[in-house]
Amino acid sequence: MQPWTLLGVLSLLLAVPDALAVKSHDFKTCSQAGFCRRGRALSARAAEAKNTWKSPYSVDVSSIAITPNKAVFTAGVKSSLYPDIQFGLELRVHDDGVVRVRMDEINGLRKRYDEAASWALISEPTISQDITWTTGKKDIRAKYGNNEVVVAFEPLTVSLLRGGKPQIVLNGRGLLHMEHFRTKKVEETKTEEAAPVPEEGAEDAAEQAVFEAEKEVNPRAWFEGDTEDDWWEERFSTWTDSKPKGPESLSIDISFPSHGTIYGIPQHATRLALPTTAGDSPTFTDPYRLYNADVFEYLASSPMSLYGSIPILHAHSADSTVGIFHAVGSETWIDVSHASDKSTETHWISESGILDLFLMPGPTPADVFAQYSRLTGTPVLPPHWSLGYHQCRWNYISSDDVRTVQRRFDEEDMPVDVFWLDIEYAEEHKYFMWDAKNFPDPVEMTNDVAANGRKMVVIVDPHLKRTSNYPAFQEASDRKVLVMPSSGEGEYEGWCWSGSSSWIDFFNPNAWDWWKSLFKTTALKSGWSWTSSTTDIHIWNDMNEPSVFNGPEISMPRDNVHYGGWEHRDVHNINGMLFSNLTSKAVQERTDPPQRPFVLTRSFFAGSQRFGAMWTGDNLGTWEHMAVGIQMVLANGIGGMSFAGSDVGGFFGNPEPEMLVRWYQVGIFNPFLRAHAHIDTKRREPFLLEQPYKGIVKDLLRLRYTMLPVWYTAFRETSVTGVPVLRPHYVMFPKDTKGFTVDDQYFIGASGILVKPITTKGATETTVYLPEDEVYYDYFSHHVYRGAAKGKDITVQAELHQVPVFVRGGSIVPTRERPRRSSPLMKLDPFTLRVALSKAGSARGELYLDDGVSYAHEKGQFVWREFSAQTAKKTVRITTKDLGAEKKDAAVDGVALASYNPGNTFAETIKEVRVEKIVVEGLGGKPASVKVEGGKELVWEYAPGVAANGKGEGVAGVLTIKDPKVLVVKDWAIVIQM
Ligand code: NOJ
Repeated sequence: MQPWTLLGVLSLLLAVPDALAVKSHDFKTCSQAGFCRRGRALSARAAEAKNTWKSPYSVDVSSIAITPNKAVFTAGVKSSLYPDIQFGLELRVHDDGVVRVRMDEINGLRKRYDEAASWALISEPTISQDITWTTGKKDIRAKYGNNEVVVAFEPLTVSLLRGGKPQIVLNGRGLLHMEHFRTKKVEETKTEEAAPVPEEGAEDAAEQAVFEAEKEVNPRAWFEGDTEDDWWEERFSTWTDSKPKGPESLSIDISFPSHGTIYGIPQHATRLALPTTAGDSPTFTDPYRLYNADVFEYLASSPMSLYGSIPILHAHSADSTVGIFHAVGSETWIDVSHASDKSTETHWISESGILDLFLMPGPTPADVFAQYSRLTGTPVLPPHWSLGYHQCRWNYISSDDVRTVQRRFDEEDMPVDVFWLDIEYAEEHKYFMWDAKNFPDPVEMTNDVAANGRKMVVIVDPHLKRTSNYPAFQEASDRKVLVMPSSGEGEYEGWCWSGSSSWIDFFNPNAWDWWKSLFKTTALKSGWSWTSSTTDIHIWNDMNEPSVFNGPEISMPRDNVHYGGWEHRDVHNINGMLFSNLTSKAVQERTDPPQRPFVLTRSFFAGSQRFGAMWTGDNLGTWEHMAVGIQMVLANGIGGMSFAGSDVGGFFGNPEPEMLVRWYQVGIFNPFLRAHAHIDTKRREPFLLEQPYKGIVKDLLRLRYTMLPVWYTAFRETSVTGVPVLRPHYVMFPKDTKGFTVDDQYFIGASGILVKPITTKGATETTVYLPEDEVYYDYFSHHVYRGAAKGKDITVQAELHQVPVFVRGGSIVPTRERPRRSSPLMKLDPFTLRVALSKAGSARGELYLDDGVSYAHEKGQFVWREFSAQTAKKTVRITTKDLGAEKKDAAVDGVALASYNPGNTFAETIKEVRVEKIVVEGLGGKPASVKVEGGKELVWEYAPGVAANGKGEGVAGVLTIKDPKVLVVKDWAIVIQM
């Protein structure tokens, strides 16, 4: 038997859950989670009681206090159900208009987990200095600009208004409930059946009497229900959760009275505009669940949890966008319903933690992205090479296998930047430890890859094999930085790829420097380090939900204990993020000066965007999964995780060539482009395809590489503004209502490139939605289409070799057209500029470049150019200027720009780089002359357009200017005389 076959069989035996088909019953539905059941029952009781329902929570007016700087409002909150329990409300307005609303139990039996925000936020937000509070009899109000926040006293509600119109309302439906800590009764007097809720207009007086009587027995039943439903212990399948703290869940309704569409709360496999889960005829019967989970062969349409959770959503309408971020790390379920097509209601039910809500006032999608970025940070600017093509599979089985795969790419002239190693490189799945038989020469192997400018990415999972001959485990054990079992003592032990394993507790600061030290490629006195690696190896963090094969819901028991005594339930959704964030820092800091790390994570939370990339996990090789992968990548972008992609080819299954080609078309237009496959699948590297498929995929990969300047420029902008790399229609055209549900096509950054990947079998054409009265040029054929002010569908060809890509009129797109083996080899390649004139004859575009690997760009070492075209008096002038210099004065980008100077060292390294071609689409006819301003006639040719109708549609006239001998780093102007 080949060693890899043996490895495969062994892995499959170990991979109990992976080897079997998806099992929804491995994961809870809302009705199987005590607190979710309780939360939904509360909402059902409220719905039944209709207008008679009143939240028991109110502000204790006597306790209201406002800090001397007028920025922070605090007050006690009481529940009429439990007059002895105290809650505290705190409200602060940040200087960008974001309102933070915190509520916690005060002097309770225990402390609620209140540290989620400390992991998600980049810093303590600055408080506005400009707030005036006005206290009335019924409420207190703070007006700032056009916004107003109103805290109503009884019942407690918090509303954010703009221009007097409510945008976000908390507790408007009276579903706020913070289950306070209680003492378990030794003898419980349980009522067998729940107290009945009176029907509206109950006619039967006898029934009413019974209800009243039962109400006297338990006066809280109308609100809390009449049973201690899973308060003190909870079972699921064969597991029992000991729940030592008892009930502590948190329910809050958040309404958007003026917004009919919501987006976000990734990650779920569903449409971008979130379908309903409650109200009349909901699309899904369960709420959206946020509980990071390793869901094998997940469904292509479901509100089930997946690997990562970001509790942020956008509520959108034609004239306003607002956002909500809830800093909560415990399991959270979110119901979505619409009272009308112009309003949205959500209900958030979390297992534990405090209420820590950020109300983001918008009013545009871009504003909400900026507000969220100011809280949790902008997405990272990744190393440039990581935007190239990544070739992965489970597994390349030996160093010679890696070399062979690399050779085959080169023989076929297919570009690739990164080769990946999955878990089988590691002896007994002890990560870092090479399987010496199959990988006898890891450093040489990596150097062979690096010789072509390429990198390797190697997997490091969070489960550490419990064996004394594994330094990572042994040192973690010695340092006492492993997660503890429910007893709060010793080491939790569970089962994963490596057999009996333990997990590092990254909430423990003592783990941080030690973990970082493991990645050093040089020997350390202080302990073990990865000397059999090189700085060309970057890292893949998988299974960090965490995945525990023999744990409840394939994860860790919720009563496990972390640093500080917190239960795993409190921090579950944050846990995976800390692992990959620390790994990212480790890779960054292994060199001096630091280099940009690449770390791919499967699990993520709010804040993960600051550190690396994510992918959508174990998708299936089906058309449905291909399609939903696009929607998931768009949704992840809303949560900041722009650097995202889905496994090209589908992780499970053996895609037929047509599907694989279409998947590459999806992949090359994903921010993160990686082909990956399960160990059980047939090899499917693109060079293995027959013609014509092989040729098509080669062209697709080359297309990705030609467009790397577009991608990198888009990533740079995202890293500053937070607006995602892939931009859905509602982000680009917030007022266009028809675009609100469009999620199968999108724009790349601000480049003007519009993509509609094909995700159906046998397609030969497709419709593309054009949202405005502007011209759009087919990227390949120069066919020009004209949209309409109210939006228009066009039909375009989409044979297998065709992917619908358009350039929005008014854009200038920089590309590099020379085929190379890997992206670093393109560093000095010349550029092509495609000038796609708008119907008014103008265009604009940007190009951002830096060294792609270091942090020198933060010290002003970059080139940032603007290109523009203007038409006036039968003359088209194409010009370029230095945006770095222009924006430096405005200091819009902070530190990086402040230190910019046009002659910086990086700019010097590319000072000879030319623009080798300029293609102008949309000129009215053949020019009379084309010159560099003040210079001689250039070499050019003109292909006349073919008019199809009187609206400017047909094939655009195309002017190609050959080698105008202008440089990228210099100002110049080209004059086209018509
Ligand atoms: C699960 C991951 O999702 C998958 O991509 C990987 O190949 C396997 N684990 C093995 O590491």
